[in-house]
Amino acid sequence: MSLTTTLTRIWLTRTLRPFTFKNEYDRSLPYGDCRSLGLYVHIPFCRSLCDFCPYCKVRYEKDLCDEYMDALIREIHMVGRQYPGRKNVTSLYFGGGTPALAAGRIKEVIDALKEHFIITEGIGLELHPGNLDRETLQTLKEAGVTKISIGIQSFQSRYQKILGRKPVDARSLAAALTEVPFETVSMDFIFALPGQTFDDLKSDIDLAFASGANHVAIYPFIDFTFTKSPVKAMARKEKRLLLDAITGYCLSKGYHRSSIWTFSAEPEADYSSMTRENFLGFGCSATSLLERQFKINTFDVNAYCGRIRAGDLPTSLTIRFTSRQRMIYWLFWTAYSTRVDEKDFERFFGVPLRRMYGFELRLARLLGMVTERNGTYEMTLKGAFYYHYYENFYTLAYIDKMWGIMRKEAFPEGIKL
Ligand SMILES: C[S@@+](CC[C@H](N)C(=O)[O-])C[C@H]1O[C@@H](n2cnc3c(N)ncnc32)[C@H](O)[C@@H]1O
Ligand code: SF4
Repeated sequence: MSLTTTLTRIWLTRTLRPFTFKNEYDRSLPYGDCRSLGLYVHIPFCRSLCDFCPYCKVRYEKDLCDEYMDALIREIHMVGRQYPGRKNVTSLYFGGGTPALAAGRIKEVIDALKEHFIITEGIGLELHPGNLDRETLQTLKEAGVTKISIGIQSFQSRYQKILGRKPVDARSLAAALTEVPFETVSMDFIFALPGQTFDDLKSDIDLAFASGANHVAIYPFIDFTFTKSPVKAMARKEKRLLLDAITGYCLSKGYHRSSIWTFSAEPEADYSSMTRENFLGFGCSATSLLERQFKINTFDVNAYCGRIRAGDLPTSLTIRFTSRQRMIYWLFWTAYSTRVDEKDFERFFGVPLRRMYGFELRLARLLGMVTERNGTYEMTLKGAFYYHYYENFYTLAYIDKMWGIMRKEAFPEGIKL
């Protein structure tokens, strides 16, 4: 683990204590008292596996997928029955993998969730460009999906080739989206690929908005140590120029920066499964954050189904955050939206933000990373770049290490980060 991340963690959490995940869990989950709860469902099947992708995924097989979907519905009822009545939740997101490979069973999952939860802000689902046929889109829409996110990565065959993916035909994409419209159509792109220029990215974004998207996500390429990808990440200076140029371009077109990597063309277009205060995750590799308890389900599909068959939760590891660790987690993900409101912090933690992190906020202002107006801190372009830079360290130091272990062992003894 890098010295920078360790020192930053010690400073911000005001303790030498590392993030300690243990092989234990609570059978009953304390989500009844949580405000602002979001739901996430993971479906890990893909037609073929991309070398660069770090997510929990396996090759699609119909029988295994059906067994998994049955287990998923049982997990939902196991958790949902713990709280009497139906609880309000903000949103529901399906991620993967490629959830649309189970399109015919998404309605069953949504119906199971609706027995226990009232979803107030819509239902999102990730799609692979290979899923964009009229029948699949219609099935998803009839199931209740209102937002879709399509993993384009790049419209240019050169970068698709670098990533080992097939070219995407923008015309048939636009035709399918006109036939079956959704409230939010987001398209994912990866930037900082070798040789990628501002013009490459600009034409991708223009084509996305011209082909039916009202929201785009532009993720920096991350070279995870456990993936087999031969693609190397771009140098820091070049990446910063590219990030600033593409952000400036999107803002000049009047797009709203809804989070550090996302821009929307319409105010109501929104796609984010990451910035919830509390969340419940179902399926393998899904995480749940309930006040101070953070837990991760096993990454192993067979072990997941086995635990559910035995009538048990598929939790692999749990961490119980200290109060400062929880604050840092909250600040990190809230800052992802590029704004932090001190009223939200005080409402959630019952203490003023300035009392807990006044020095760091003053320093961030002095260094030109944030501006402050009426208690709302907003990231500058410089701040957004350094957030990204630190996030890259954090991803490689924490997520890379943890996912690397979880991919090998269904129920590891414990992990210290
Ligand atoms: C679960 S995947 C996408 C859904 C769908 N299976 C697909 O391939 O189109 C979510 C998104 O993560 C992003 N992603 C995957 N691997 C990445 C990496 N190594 N670095 C940066 N972004 C990555 C991609 O933009 C991808 O669309
Ligand atoms: S990028 Fe998408 S299709 Fe490729 S392995 Fe990852 S989840 Fe599967």
